[in-house]
Amino acid sequence: MPKITKAVFPIAGLGTRFLPATKASAKEMLPVVDKPLIQYAVEEAYAAGIRQMIFVTGRTKRSVEDHFDTAYELENELERAGKTELLATARSIAPDDMICTYVRQPRALGLGHAVLCARELVGKEAFAVLLADDLMVGEPPVMAQMVQQYSEWRASILAVQDVPREHTKRYGIVSGDTLNEELVDVDGIVEKPAPENAPTTLAVAGRYILTHGIFDELANLPRGVGGEIQLTDGIARLLRREKVFAYRYHGTRYDCGSKLGFLQATVDLGEQHAEVGREFSAWLQARTQD
Ligand code: UTP
Repeated sequence: MPKITKAVFPIAGLGTRFLPATKASAKEMLPVVDKPLIQYAVEEAYAAGIRQMIFVTGRTKRSVEDHFDTAYELENELERAGKTELLATARSIAPDDMICTYVRQPRALGLGHAVLCARELVGKEAFAVLLADDLMVGEPPVMAQMVQQYSEWRASILAVQDVPREHTKRYGIVSGDTLNEELVDVDGIVEKPAPENAPTTLAVAGRYILTHGIFDELANLPRGVGGEIQLTDGIARLLRREKVFAYRYHGTRYDCGSKLGFLQATVDLGEQHAEVGREFSAWLQARTQD
């Protein structure tokens, strides 16, 4: 049975909404409580059975490579000090059976262009795309839900959620025939439509499974909204040749590319954190009673 073995993480964006933090540092390394955004996404892919992680990086993103590399000095120091739990935490970031590869996107020409940069590393198979600034919390994890859908349909799958109509301008919006509570047979997708032009309020979240047919479409695309090569436009073309399904995932999405979403994720995951959650919740409660 064909499986999804590779995940692409486009992390070459400029992260302008998080300036000044992102002037010289990677947005994807911003921690929610104690874990960088990119690690949440990699763990989600790993939980879906994916072992080959492909990062599309750019300037200021070198810390991501270091994060998934072995840190001998740190490990030796923790071992020497007998800090076994912290040692296990440090080692768990990159399990032995996980392969990380890196490719550069020389200029931030858009998400579609970033995905295209991974073409040679992906080869001729379907693959996952995870945008780390969308932090997804789900059980089973959202990418595992999507891999399950892929194994049934063997076609591209887009994670979607309903959004308020006034927010359509922030997303790719899909339309199509509803097959069941979870699935839509997509017949159209548009990038960031104004509320009055949006065909539906079904918005694409930052999780995709795409067939390798997407690469030919992206390679021939002109620049779209904002002068960028848009993944949405590539998917719109793919639709003419292949089935594409939208999947209403089960779980919560935090838009950590925006300050508000990032703060919401920090509060929610802070309250659930094994070490500080209880104390943090009590502090929050006392604060709201003031
Ligand atoms: P965003 O739209 O969030 O762009 O990209 P951004 O540049 O990171 O952030 P802002 O809007 O300036 O604050 C969505 C995802 O696509 C990646 C980003 O790294 C992010 O994960 N991306 C975007 C690229 O890898 N390359 C690009 O050229 C554009």
